[in-house]
Amino acid sequence: MPDPVVKAITAPTIAVLGLGHVGLPTALGFAELGWRVVGADDDQDKAARIRRGEPPFYEPGLADLLRRHLASGRFTVAPTVRDGVREGDVLFVCVGTPQRDDGSPDLSQVEAVARTIAKDLNGYKLIVEKSTTPVRTAEQIRRTIRRYRNGDHAFDVAVNPEFLREGSACADVLHPDRIVLGVDSERARDLLLRVYRPLLDRLPPERVVVTDLHTAELIKHASNAFLATRISFINMIADMCEATGADVTEVARGMGLDPRIGSAYLRAGAGFGGYCLPKDLRALIRIGEDLGIDVGLLRAVEEVNRRRTERIVRKLEQALWILRGKTVGILGLAFKPDTDDVREAPSLKVIARLREEGVLLRLHDPWAQDSMRVVVPEDPPRVTYCASAYDAARGAHAVVVLTEWPEYGDLDLARLAALMETPVMVDGRNLYDPAAARAAGFDYYGVGRR
Ligand code: UGA
Repeated sequence: MPDPVVKAITAPTIAVLGLGHVGLPTALGFAELGWRVVGADDDQDKAARIRRGEPPFYEPGLADLLRRHLASGRFTVAPTVRDGVREGDVLFVCVGTPQRDDGSPDLSQVEAVARTIAKDLNGYKLIVEKSTTPVRTAEQIRRTIRRYRNGDHAFDVAVNPEFLREGSACADVLHPDRIVLGVDSERARDLLLRVYRPLLDRLPPERVVVTDLHTAELIKHASNAFLATRISFINMIADMCEATGADVTEVARGMGLDPRIGSAYLRAGAGFGGYCLPKDLRALIRIGEDLGIDVGLLRAVEEVNRRRTERIVRKLEQALWILRGKTVGILGLAFKPDTDDVREAPSLKVIARLREEGVLLRLHDPWAQDSMRVVVPEDPPRVTYCASAYDAARGAHAVVVLTEWPEYGDLDLARLAALMETPVMVDGRNLYDPAAARAAGFDYYGVGRR
């Protein structure tokens, strides 16, 4: 027997509060599934851009989805977050959770949105935590709403972690490999299942996890921490390969053929960056410490990752001896391909180190130059942004590959080498075949390659 409140909501309106890298693809994904979706964001400039059909960041397929659903009328952007709260029946909280200096997440945006929701309750609402937040945040959201609640309207809080990756966010939202729902009432469960019905119809039932709130929150923490662990593990093996003359790409391939291991997240290189893996790992370390749990394993994962960029600088020193006054071209600034995001990108650390050493930098990225310029302004000849990878290599003593953009894979390596003062390549993403790079004239340094 469905709950009467759920039954009364015949076609729930979905409100997505916070239109960033998670919120906007989520909102448009629900619109694509047929729901009416209202998005809202405190950043008025961002909201206005989205209303005009301009995605505020680069994500493959996002511009098309946005145009389509603004035109279909299924997606609108509310004038304020308060309006979004009032219009929605199911409210997905997708606000940012930046990091404080001590590594713990700053949850002030989550708290602020919970207070806004509380004050604007105008009927039953299901509030769904989608931002990645520490375990037990859902409980705090509930307490906050109770404390500031307008009237005695009923509400539920649920947890629905998001597993989308930047660069494939739209595809991930529409074709998830799993759906995790943390609920503690029948009403919340029924409503969330209703909202996800179009996806559930396509997903094998074992890929849907309906569980309690804390477990759902921990599934997200554990997933990101495990991905980070795999990457640091293979990076440690890469160092062993370098010391012994083995090849890490073949080690990873050999390991990955074991179905218990699998081949994903075993690419050695410059380490993991981005807004999620490093921050979530630090948050989990903090949570563990607060709970008195030994999180040495996670600290080691972080430490291995911290050292990745230093190894890249060492390789440059090995090749060039003295770095001061040399010119280095950096190919790839984004933390990974298909995004213009440079948050916690390995490139930031490498650039900072090389600037300290007095290296003249020529930077290129197909999409992320504008976002990098904000944090590392153009300052020729110390920092020069270049129109192409070839331009970045011109007159350089070395090039360093930090993002494996597919278009870099298509470069004419002989042409690239010919443009350089000395053709040295440090391939921080193992993008090139070492033999091919050497045949093109490069003194080639990969990561854990023979
Ligand atoms: C990550 C998770 O993969 C998503 O499932 C999760 O939803 C998201 O965080 C989040 O919490 O919001 P994302 O930050 O987009 O997604 O990045 P990933 O594709 O996981 O890559 C992270 C970093 O690891 C990148 O710098 C990438 O270059 C690096 N990486 C990845 C490796 O160095 N080796 C690998 O084998 C894989």
